[in-house]
Amino acid sequence: MTDAAKPITYASYLAIDELLNLQRPLSGEHDEMLFVVIHQTKELWLKQIIHELLLAKRHIQAGDLPPAFKCLSRVSRIQSVMTHQWDILSTMTPADYLAFRGSLGTSSGFQSNQFRRIEYLLGLKDPAFLKFHKERPAALSDLQSALDQPSLYDDAIKALADVGLNIPEAILNRDVTQPYEPSRAVEDAWLEVYSDTTAYWALYELAEKLVDLDDALLTWRHKHVITVERIIGQKMGTGGTPGVSYLQKTLERRAFPELWSVRTRL
Ligand code: HEM
Repeated sequence: MTDAAKPITYASYLAIDELLNLQRPLSGEHDEMLFVVIHQTKELWLKQIIHELLLAKRHIQAGDLPPAFKCLSRVSRIQSVMTHQWDILSTMTPADYLAFRGSLGTSSGFQSNQFRRIEYLLGLKDPAFLKFHKERPAALSDLQSALDQPSLYDDAIKALADVGLNIPEAILNRDVTQPYEPSRAVEDAWLEVYSDTTAYWALYELAEKLVDLDDALLTWRHKHVITVERIIGQKMGTGGTPGVSYLQKTLERRAFPELWSVRTRL
């Protein structure tokens, strides 16, 4: 039978044999399989998040906000599933982890190109992370392009300007490769949206969808720090950072800063 004549089966459509051949623990220790599976499922969910964010951005750039909301809601739900996964990993004790930690060498979630791409797509831009991907041209090129293009937050700010809210030219034409600096003018524009939700319903809904994303990312980060402390205490990370103290600092990151600060003024 030619390939074209073969029936499509569950296994062939989903490439199940290839997929289930990709879990390759190095140590022979029982718990390493869980560690591999959790990281691989995370990368699959990150792939889906990127897929949704790219479509949401296209809709927002075209001024078509409602279809973007569906994508952003889906992202929040995926984030929530990812946060729940920490409960599975926390069944792994320090002794279980130490039994195979040596096999990881210097590898770390810190080097996940998809995680950084999501940070860049949202608006958390830091070119310092590019250097970890020099040996992987396709990953580097996707990351570079997310760094070079306006983020989801840049798109949202442009949407504010498009309905006539006052956004300074310097912000609309900013160098989007640089970290975003919070601005009083952008906060004022969001204040107008929240102060007259009937007039600005779509932007108001967009704002809350964005807060959902930032909130869920912080919740995921928080559960990560707790799980890490539970498993390795204050030891250094395999990726070379001080570990828990580094991760705690990431809890200060906000992709959409004025959407948080404006709340004080409402
Ligand atoms: C035994 C379990 C784990 C430990 C002890 C651990 C520890 C760490 C540490 C110490 C860091 C800081 C970088 C470094 O020095 O390595 C880090 C970063 C990171 N880890 Fe984990 N991790 C664990 C599991 C996971 C899992 C299961 C995921 C994903 C599902 C994950 C995703 C990440 C990501 C994305 C970063 C980068 C965070 C950032 O820079 O904002 N980690 N991890």
